[in-house]
Formats: sequence, structure tokens, C-alpha cells
Amino acid sequence: MTESSPDTIYETDALIAEDIDAYLETHQHKSMLRFITCGSVDDGKSTLIGRLLYDSKMIFEDQLAALETDSKKVGTQGQDIDFALLVDGLAAEREQGITIDVAYRFFTTEKRKFIVADCPGHEQYTRNMVTGASTADLAVILIDARKGVLVQTRRHSFLCNLLGIKNIVLAVNKMDLVDYDQATFDAIVAEYSAFAEEIGIEAFTAVPMSGLKGDNITAPSDNMPWYDGPVLIDHLETVPVRSAVNRDKPFRMPVQWVNRPNLDFRGFSGLIASGTVKPGDELRVLPSGKTSTVKSVVTFDGDLEEGVAGQAVTICLDDEVDCSRGDVLATADNPPQSADQFEASIVWMDEDPLQVGRGYWLKLGTQMVSVTVQSPKYEINVNTLEQLAAKTLELNSIGVAEITTDTALTFEPYSENRSLGGFILIDKLTNRTVGAGMLNFSLRRAQNVHWQAVDITREAHAEKKNQKPLVLWFTGLSGSGKSTIANEVEKRLHVMNRHTFLLDGDNVRHGLNKDLGFTEADRIENIRRIGEVAKLMADAGLIVLTAFISPFRAERQMVRDMLPDGEFVEVFVDTPLEVAEERDVKGLYKKARSGELKNFTGIDSPYEAPEAAEVRVNTVEMSAEEAADYIIEQILK
Ligand code: ADX
Repeated sequence: MTESSPDTIYETDALIAEDIDAYLETHQHKSMLRFITCGSVDDGKSTLIGRLLYDSKMIFEDQLAALETDSKKVGTQGQDIDFALLVDGLAAEREQGITIDVAYRFFTTEKRKFIVADCPGHEQYTRNMVTGASTADLAVILIDARKGVLVQTRRHSFLCNLLGIKNIVLAVNKMDLVDYDQATFDAIVAEYSAFAEEIGIEAFTAVPMSGLKGDNITAPSDNMPWYDGPVLIDHLETVPVRSAVNRDKPFRMPVQWVNRPNLDFRGFSGLIASGTVKPGDELRVLPSGKTSTVKSVVTFDGDLEEGVAGQAVTICLDDEVDCSRGDVLATADNPPQSADQFEASIVWMDEDPLQVGRGYWLKLGTQMVSVTVQSPKYEINVNTLEQLAAKTLELNSIGVAEITTDTALTFEPYSENRSLGGFILIDKLTNRTVGAGMLNFSLRRAQNVHWQAVDITREAHAEKKNQKPLVLWFTGLSGSGKSTIANEVEKRLHVMNRHTFLLDGDNVRHGLNKDLGFTEADRIENIRRIGEVAKLMADAGLIVLTAFISPFRAERQMVRDMLPDGEFVEVFVDTPLEVAEERDVKGLYKKARSGELKNFTGIDSPYEAPEAAEVRVNTVEMSAEEAADYIIEQILK
């Protein structure tokens, strides 16, 4: 009945002998199921994976080469492999790889191809599990029949459900160690059912098995005649794969690149996320909203009558519409929404915690935008599933928060479409992936607040003042001389008939920002607000000078990105800590050293010096007046 039964193998051989082309054809068109196994080594995960590889007799040599020391035992199709040795090898490989990543293994049966992601099970590897689960169609959740539903079973199930895995297999393993007892199995299933319902898992398939003995893995077990459900491999071979499910949804394809080999051909390439597409279909390009008709759907093998979800295609349209990487092609009459404020679930994956209010890159398929995350509404304890109050998210924690992007995203809720609802967060400075998330829904307030076009533009304002707006952004340690020098610069500009305004840290902290202190989060918010104010003033045509420590590169970059090119001039007031501390104009360094003042920049809070400031002044060598002259000289250039 399964691929490993003698009959099927015989039929296969016969097919190869008779008609090699037909054989290859069936192989090529086999569907692919991606699944994830969750559980710890103790649950028999390696044994189960080993059993699947071993019994499916389709192990690939390169996978085994690494595991086998005795080369004689490596058979071309795995038949000669010693099962115990294989499992030992898998377990050892798992242990070595445990801290780095998810181990992917490939095997195939007569009916299907499989990729299994074997993820470490402990809580500290939540991010690895998320990585594996985000692409999986199915999850095998292992339970040791002797132990029943454990905390980790709940955690794994919660994560799989959160990541949108609709097919859950509850693999009640080690049944041989409980005498294949039906009551034990039934009790575990009952307990799990209650839990599954609680977290919103709609359905699951429970299979009693023994990975070690091979019960109910590839053939029904004689030891458990009371069980009449599917054996594991049959279930894996027949469960609907995602691309089949997505086929019935409206057409969506994020554009990966524009293909223009010559002037006669222009096509939009990408992976079809959902639905089908054929010549004559009316499509809409998002976000522009322009529509056109499909001329052809092209692949390497020529034109298709129809492209379906899961396929990589190039679509040619009848009209020359604007469309580039990051845009989404969708059915014209039922396109996805676009928005710039969302509620999202976020899994934090970096050692450095989430910085609320900081700009990160958000990558959603081929769209890449800048995003800020608000204070989490709550964090979820993945073991108890309690919702806890949280100010930030630490490594491996999961929370729900509102996020705001600087440009609108074309999206669908993750629960409806993983490709258009799942995103990653990237640190702008280090380029590290720091989080993964799921868009739950867009916020209504975003839909109701529209940008109002005004007739007196920023150009008109600047022209009236007869100047080019600028933001001179002074940064440096406390006591470095920012305010003094900025003040000198403003005086000079004023004499030159320029319209200016100076925003100074100590002053703004008495008014607009009087609610903010000196934690990292408060400093980020301080700079965000100053950035917005400076931008408004520049829009009004002014030359703005700001004097804030602004200790973090990320926020200075954020303000730079808010302004047109060339309007942000970073002025690094480069005074060494010893010198600033020696001056100690306000007596604050002394307080900081004595521990009276916490989080003081340069002492117990970091200062990230600019790497490529437009202007740098050294206050050890220059007086404030000289520094101001130098800055004027530089900006006039
Ligand atoms: S920033 O880090 O958020 O940019 P900002 O420039 O607004 O700081 O304010 C810095 C001024 O606040 C300093 O010049 C100093 O007078 C005062 N101050 C009080 N506490 C601190 C502190 N913990 N760290 C730095 N400056 C402090």
C-alpha cells in the first residue's frame, strides 16, 4: 500500500524498464510537501525522521555520506543502511547543528517529494522554529506516550498555529513503551483536543506510533489493531499542499523583477502567491492601481495556458504600464488592500531587544519599507500562553504591537495569505534580521487619515525667504559645545539675512519633550519628535539648527531619511570625553561618576559617533568662533 511495499517497488522497476520517460514524467510532477518536526531528541524525533528516510528507501547519498563512516554500508537507495547507525548520525548532526539553524532534509516517495525541517525544540530556539514553520505546510508534533502533553507541546503547537500551519499531526510516539495501550493514546488525544480548541487549532490528526519499531509509520501496525486512522506516511502523502489550497484564492503575484531582454519584450517575473492567471485576465498593478490585460504567461519551457499558485512565471501585459520590483500584480476586481498602520504579531530574534520607535527595515516579499514599532500591547508567555505587559521584546519573545510604515504596503492578513502578510524586520545599521512578524489587520485610523495636498508648497515657502532650507544637525557629547557653536552659527546666518531657528536640547526638554527622560527609548522618541519638528520648519523654508546629543546613529539616519537629499547636514562636535568631563559646565559628569545620575551619555549610556558627518569640528583645536566660521564656510560650499 505504501511506496515501500514490495508491490510498489516492483511496479516502479517495471515502469522504469518499460517507459523511462513516463517514469521521469511522474517524478517531475510530484507535489512537494514541506513539513516541520517539533519535539526534543528525547521524544524520538531523530528516530522518527530516520524511520521515514529509512523506510522510504529513497535516501540521497550525499545526505548519508556525512553520517556514515563505514562506506560499505552506504547503499545507493539506502536499503543497506543500518537503521540504528542512521539515527545516531541524525541525532549527532542535530546536536552539532542545534545552535545554528534548522536542519533541512529531503526525501521522496512514489507520490510526493518532501522537505522536512528539523528544528531544535527548546525555548531558546524559538526563532529557529519560527524559521522552519514559516514555510511549512504541515507540522508533526511529537509526544512521548509515557509523558503526554508537555509545556513544550503547547509551545510548539502555539507557534505552528501562529505561523499559519493548518495541518497538525499529533505523533504520539513510543507506543511500544506503553504496551500499545489504547486508553493511554485516547487520554493524550483528549487532553490535546481541549488545548487545541483553546488556542484556535481547528483540526489535527493524531497517530499512535513507534518510530523505533516502525509502527504506523509506513504501514499499519499489527500491534495496534484498535487504530483505524491513516499511517503517518499516507497522511503526509495525501494532505493538501499549500499551493493547491492557494490556487482557489484571488490572483496575487509580488513582482520580483522586470524582465526586459530586448525592446520587444517586457515581462514581470515573480512567484504566484495565490490564484491563477491566464491570457486575457484583467490585472491591477499595486500600489499605482493601473490596470491592463494579460498578453502571455511565460516560463522557461514556453508560454503557459494558465499559471497557478506556487509557479514562477513572467507575465506580459497588453499595455506599457509602470510596474517595478516591489509592486504586486492582482486580479483587477478583487485586489489586496494597502495601508501603513497595522497590528502585527512579532517574534523577536536578536540579542539586542526591540527599540520602540526606532526605524527598522520591513521586508514583505519584494516590498521593503521603513517601519517603527510601538510599545507592545502585550507579550505572550509561550509556555503558559498568558498575555503579559511588556515595554519591549527580548530575544525569542513574541508580542503583539502596532506598527507604522513610512510608505503604504500592499498586504493581506497573514492568516489569509502568508506571502502578503508575513514580514521580517532588519536592523538598518547592521543589516541583521532581528525579527519576523505577521500582519494581523490594518488600523482603521490609518484608512481615515489622508495626506492633505496644500497649495503653498515647501518650494514656495523657501522661495519667499530666498534661501534653500537646511537642517544643521549638531551631535556630540554633553558639554561638547554643541549649543555654543550652534548659537554662533545662527548669529552669523542671521547677519547674512537668513531665516533660521535653533532647537536646543535643554530648552526643548522643558516644553515639547518634558515627558521624556534618558532611557534609550526616551532618547529615541526625543530625536524622533525633534526630527519631525525640524522637518516641518524646513518645509516652512527655514534653516534649522538642532543641538542634541542624539547619541544613536539609527535615529540620526532616520531624520536624514525624512528630508530631501542634501538638506540634512550632520555636524559632529568632536570633543573627547576627557575634555567634556574636564569642562563639566553643568556639573553633571561629576554627578554621573558618583552614581547620582544614571544613564549618562559617555559614562553608562553609549554615544555612537558619526562615521561620515558632512562637517566635523574639533573643539580642542578650535574656539567656538573658529568652529562656527568653519561650519559657515563648509555649508556655503
Ligand atoms: S539626547 O540624548 O536625548 O539627545 P538631549 O540633547 O536632548 O539628549 O539632552 C541632553 C542634555 O540633558 C545634556 O546636555 C544634559 O544637560 C542633560 N542631561 C540630563 N541627564 C542626562 C543624561 N543622563 N545623559 C545625558 N544628558 C543628560
